[in-house]
Amino acid sequence: MISTLRVAVVAGDGIGPEVTAAAQRVLEAAGRRFAFEIEWHAIVAGGAGIEAYGTALRDEDLRRCSEMDAILLGAVGGPRWDDPAAAVRPEQALLALRQGLGLFANLRPVVAEPLLEDSSPLRPERIRGVDLVIVRELTGGLYYGDRAEGHRTPAGRVAHDTLPYQEGEIRRVVRLAFELARERRGLVTSVDKANVLATSRLWRTVALEVGAEEPDITLHHLLVDRCAMELVTRPATFDVIVTENLFGDILSDEASVLAGSLGMLASASLGERRTAWGTFGLYEPVHGSAPDIAGSDRANPIGAILSGALLLRWSLGQPEAAAAIESAVGAALRSGHRTADLIAAETHPITGTHAFTDAVVQALSGAAHLSHPGTGHAA
Ligand code: IPM
Ligand code: MG
Repeated sequence: MISTLRVAVVAGDGIGPEVTAAAQRVLEAAGRRFAFEIEWHAIVAGGAGIEAYGTALRDEDLRRCSEMDAILLGAVGGPRWDDPAAAVRPEQALLALRQGLGLFANLRPVVAEPLLEDSSPLRPERIRGVDLVIVRELTGGLYYGDRAEGHRTPAGRVAHDTLPYQEGEIRRVVRLAFELARERRGLVTSVDKANVLATSRLWRTVALEVGAEEPDITLHHLLVDRCAMELVTRPATFDVIVTENLFGDILSDEASVLAGSLGMLASASLGERRTAWGTFGLYEPVHGSAPDIAGSDRANPIGAILSGALLLRWSLGQPEAAAAIESAVGAALRSGHRTADLIAAETHPITGTHAFTDAVVQALSGAAHLSHPGTGHAA
């Protein structure tokens, strides 16, 4: 039976449109093989939304997104909209989608691909065996707390941000981390700054309470500064890391070096709403809009393609198709394809975004021989 799944595509800015187009091609190829069809609904948002409508995300577009089975997002932002004094900023689209759709948990898996050991600035023996997932709280904390900027006082200009958390917001995301750990290696590392911050002490207390309900899972606590260090000194020992919004933002960019490039990382942002097949979510690569390489066919599409795999797994109930996409990415790498960000030495020719996607589609469609970089046809 062919099912039709409704997915909103927020391509966004910079390389966003190139990488979402790549992910869409791969998802369509998966649909042909696994008998499902995706109906795409394009949404203009981010910097593109500011240009088109004067706002990063229109209310009606947020509403349309909420009616879908899932959302695929590219990236938002760019130098054009970087003025710190501007009232509208592309990032507001992302923050509004996350909060407006109740997507409180952001999952960022980080796996060190042995083929890419050379691409990481870390020594191969350090990153060997890395297979972790960062679960970042996504709708609370500093990102959404009260803030004020630009007050003038006799002492000069002042600004402040606040970091609020309610225990329910902590509990639901920590519980999700425990659920993930149960399917993995059974270890949760809860990251906080409990030696200084009140919210971190609440975080730790709630994590301990959840841990007491789940005695089969090992729970460790780590201060965020220590975690930043251990992510590069003993990364393979982590399984599931759960932390608040800003710490998760910072630690996940740091962890991307374990995978060889920020371009490799995918993410799933999940909430409570269920679809007919799973959990409603927003899927996006962890990288940004990379305006310097936009439009030049140099972007690494892997983060977006693997986000598409997460979309199939979590929202559309297609675990086999998701696994097939993940192995097709591996096959494209094994046959020698490397986007520019993955090339450490002169050992490989550069494969462009489009040709890399071709290689993934080919592998996914069960082509017996994959094309090799530079030849353009099956070898
Ligand atoms: C991310 C990004 C965003 C964030 C920005 C673009 C607002 O860095 O998804 O990690 O800080 O959450
Ligand atoms: Mg970030």
